[in-house]
Amino acid sequence: MKQEFRLGERVSTVRFLEQGERAEEIIRREYPHSLIIWVADENTSRYLPAGEPHCLVLPAGEAFKTMETILRIVDFALQVGAGRDSLFVALGGGVVCDMTAFAASVYMRGAGVVLLPSTLLAMVDATLGGKSGVDYRGYKNIIGTFYPASLIIIEPTYLASLPQREIMGGLAEVVKHAMLSGEDALERIERLLPDIKAGNRDAFSSIIAESLTVKGAVIEQDPLERGIRAHLNLGHTFAHALESATGFNGWSHGEAVAWGLSRALHAGELLGETDPGYRRFIDELLDRFGYRRYAEADTSAILEAVGSDKKKRGGEVRFVLQKKAGDTFTRALPREIVEEAISGGCLNP
Ligand SMILES: NC(=O)c1ccc[n+]([C@@H]2O[C@H](COP(=O)([O-])OP(=O)(O)OC[C@H]3O[C@@H](n4cnc5c(N)ncnc54)[C@H](O)[C@@H]3O)[C@@H](O)[C@H]2O)c1
Repeated sequence: MKQEFRLGERVSTVRFLEQGERAEEIIRREYPHSLIIWVADENTSRYLPAGEPHCLVLPAGEAFKTMETILRIVDFALQVGAGRDSLFVALGGGVVCDMTAFAASVYMRGAGVVLLPSTLLAMVDATLGGKSGVDYRGYKNIIGTFYPASLIIIEPTYLASLPQREIMGGLAEVVKHAMLSGEDALERIERLLPDIKAGNRDAFSSIIAESLTVKGAVIEQDPLERGIRAHLNLGHTFAHALESATGFNGWSHGEAVAWGLSRALHAGELLGETDPGYRRFIDELLDRFGYRRYAEADTSAILEAVGSDKKKRGGEVRFVLQKKAGDTFTRALPREIVEEAISGGCLNP
């Protein structure tokens, strides 16, 4: 299976590996003359192809998503004699993919980049869209570039070793994409739920392809994030506030996103815009996936975190809300509505 997305001047091709196909063979075929640098982390290095001469293994985790690590990648590229026509191949989650793409984008003003996402989140979200970057002084992805990968290879086999919590993190983005798409996509997810829970490869391929189609349609319209791409942040303002209020402890990003999706629909309902039946349907779907919809956190702490997000973004937070599946809009909300929507998702409001 193959999908193509046009991002401004560039095209990103997504290839799904069939059982038995090997990523390195496809890469060699597509880029026969390039020196190839493989970048993995300590949890994904097990998937590096045997015999590849230039492999760099980084420490795992967001804490290493830094300029120091970018310089390690650049040093390695220099050491192996990489040129501008070389290819940087990332084999890892969103952290490795974001950093490898960033390093490739600045190495000699732009080398080639291919991404092999190994987490569900990276497969359905992080690799498509061209955003690369690193964290700095407590700000996430504050240094970065738009640099779409020419090729993204999806190998669902990698998901077999991914901890369940990381799978749940990616599934929250899958549900979000289905909400942005419409009723049909949500019904398909509902139907596939037992197969997804059973780890069925075809079910995963199908939801990944569908998610990429939804995200692809949005980013093709708005490759540089100047307008409609904001819709991809559905649930994320509430999610970031919960993560920050709980000290980035206890809630993974994906779990917080699921909570945030429910809070966004509650806020929309309080505003008189969201169909209450749709909100119930999504809450039930999130329950069936096994997400927590209630946080053991104080409303005031989460509300304060929304406020500080507002300051960071220069004064106004526009929440992404929905009337129903596939019908999305953005709106600045009165404080009372934000407060009530948050307290509706807290055990000790
Ligand atoms: N560029 C974008 O548009 C975009 C979009 C969303 C998120 N992101 C970024 O993605 C990052 C989060 O990505 P993530 O959730 O993939 O986290 P991650 O890359 O940190 O991976 C999570 C953990 O799983 C491990 N891992 C990865 N693949 C594995 C596998 N197959 N088996 C076992 N362990 C494996 C990793 O080593 C890590 O410990 C954040 O930095 C975020 O900013 C970027």
